[in-house]
Amino acid sequence: MIVLGIETSCDETGIGLYDTKRGLLNHTLYSQTEMHSEYGGVVPELASRDHIRRVIPLIKQTLSASEHSLQDLAAIAYTQGPGLAGALLVGASIGSALGFALKIPTLGIHHLEGHLLSPLLSTPSPDFPFVALLVSGGHTQLMEVRGVGSYRLLGETLDDAAGEAFDKTAKLLGLGYPGGPALSKLAEKGKSGRFTLPRPMLHSGDLNFSFSGLKTAVLTLTKKNEVTQQTCADIALAFQDAAVDVLTEKSLAALKQTGLTQLIVAGGVGANRQLRNKLLKKVELAGATVFFPSLEFCTDNGAMIAFAGAMRLQMPDISNQLPGNSFTVKARWNLELLKAPNDP
Ligand code: KG4
Ligand code: ZN
Repeated sequence: MIVLGIETSCDETGIGLYDTKRGLLNHTLYSQTEMHSEYGGVVPELASRDHIRRVIPLIKQTLSASEHSLQDLAAIAYTQGPGLAGALLVGASIGSALGFALKIPTLGIHHLEGHLLSPLLSTPSPDFPFVALLVSGGHTQLMEVRGVGSYRLLGETLDDAAGEAFDKTAKLLGLGYPGGPALSKLAEKGKSGRFTLPRPMLHSGDLNFSFSGLKTAVLTLTKKNEVTQQTCADIALAFQDAAVDVLTEKSLAALKQTGLTQLIVAGGVGANRQLRNKLLKKVELAGATVFFPSLEFCTDNGAMIAFAGAMRLQMPDISNQLPGNSFTVKARWNLELLKAPNDP
């Protein structure tokens, strides 16, 4: 069974083709980063218009690169939310129209479920159950994952998401958009120990996070010090150290609290090298295993949506997913409210 995945929730157009027998056949991505960088952040209207331009050519490219045609598809999965409403509508309308025309099931997928399941696309991959650290531009959550559709929130950020904190801090340091990769690159040149930033909520006794104070602490440092290139690098390193410490310690606490021995890291911040290294070391010391999706599946992509769709389609009772003549998107959508397809 071949499933086409369409991801258009933000500023990346991603198309994936997943075969339940052969695995991932192909995936393609068009990133709008360059277009938005001029504005220092994503401009929703420009994002939607660009998705309209990209989706169909990318679907054609993805199909032909794996020598398949539309007629080979068994189902279409598209990101239904959360995300930018206009951008989501592009993938939802094209996906639903294709499904209707081809008379095949169409599934709306939760973007974060795509991220949560993305480590299963890489080898070695975890088995259920596991703890997931979801760290993207819009979300920072620790979830207990018992199976497809079985997600329990263990803790989350009370203010900024981790990726958002990286982006805002990068902006304060005069780096371009998106800030996360630029900030972590700059941090490589930083001198360790020159600045130390607080570790917010490290000892809060729960699994919640808070990142907005870190950004303010960075602002104070930039005002107190002459902002040379070296100072920026030192601040970037201090910020990254603090964010990575908190993410690591809370992940370890989540493993302890649930008694689980597998951690998966999903979302764009999962591409951060320092976070990967620290988690690898600390989680192993705790007698558990950490899994990361390969870098190409860390940030937004269509492969994870095709894969999540394929997982859901293999479960019983997909009657409510058959092609109809209407669809909706959900700009806000609580992951915990998702049900496994066979739940009552
Ligand atoms: O999951 P994602 O591609 O998009 C959503 O937010 O859904 O995550 C994007 C976020 C951005 O905030 C970006 O700055 C951050 O992930 N990011 C990083 C790195 N690569 C991407 N943050 C820190 N270090 C990185 N290497
Ligand atoms: Zn994402």
